[in-house]
Amino acid sequence: MIVYLNGAFLPPAKASISPLDRGFLFADGVYEVIPSYRGAFFLLDEHLERLRRSLGGIRMPEPQPDEGWTPMLEGLLQRNPGGDRSVYLQVSRGAAPRDHAFPAAAAPTVFAMVSPIVETRPDPGEAGIAAITLPDQRWGRCDIKSVALLANVLARQQAVESGAVEAILLRDGVVTEGAASNVFVVHGDTVSTPPLGHAILPGITRRFLLDALRDTGWDCREAPVTEEALRSADEIWITSSTRELVPVTSLDGRPVGGSRPCPAWRRALEIFRCARDRSMGIEDAGAIR
Ligand code: PDD
Repeated sequence: MIVYLNGAFLPPAKASISPLDRGFLFADGVYEVIPSYRGAFFLLDEHLERLRRSLGGIRMPEPQPDEGWTPMLEGLLQRNPGGDRSVYLQVSRGAAPRDHAFPAAAAPTVFAMVSPIVETRPDPGEAGIAAITLPDQRWGRCDIKSVALLANVLARQQAVESGAVEAILLRDGVVTEGAASNVFVVHGDTVSTPPLGHAILPGITRRFLLDALRDTGWDCREAPVTEEALRSADEIWITSSTRELVPVTSLDGRPVGGSRPCPAWRRALEIFRCARDRSMGIEDAGAIR
């Protein structure tokens, strides 16, 4: 494995960061997770645009590598050959004597690494994943993709300890998102997902799925999803760059919807993958693999 740190491609053991790094001391940084399929990035521009937004949200100038983000990220993929992979890219405010206020001068730390995309989607014939609901205890700017993820970490751990895969978070009686995903619910022919705002991350997969479904005539709403609407949904899906679109078939230990194995999810995944492959210029678009 080769990682990228501040201009160099290195084995992880050689990549060292100061303990005074504000990413370590304050979680003062932001990140992206960018998927790649067959060696090419999917929606890279959208991820870089969101990175810029997150940096703006924490009032950090954009620290581009000398060659720019794209050659650096592609160089990292080439140095880590394999199947479908995601790149984790983190930018922190850098090392400086510990003080909450911004340092007068600190070079930002830019780190990137590659991970395999592990297929968590069940086979179409199988049941989907289990999720639990939890109160959303995060801060008020969840639209910034901050590395300060302690509340998400604790929620995800509680899900795992309950035998589930994801935690779906509720605030003031409505769904916000998953610990590391956006949430969609299906009622009849209508697909709903919570609206953008400070309470959720503007997921790249969420946006792409909404556009792809609307292009094929689906009724998609970006509107508050109440706890009652979550619990009465025919289907629940979660989306993220590393999972694409996954059905939740058990919520707090109870089955979601009827006994049918998520027919809308199946069609939606087909549409998503067709649109994904088309946008990447991949030939055999469409087949659920
Ligand atoms: N997380 N909401 C949260 C809180 C997330 O952490 C993520 C993704 C999403 C989905 O966003 P996107 O479709 O752009 O990946 C929503 C990444 C994958 C992670 O932290 O590993």
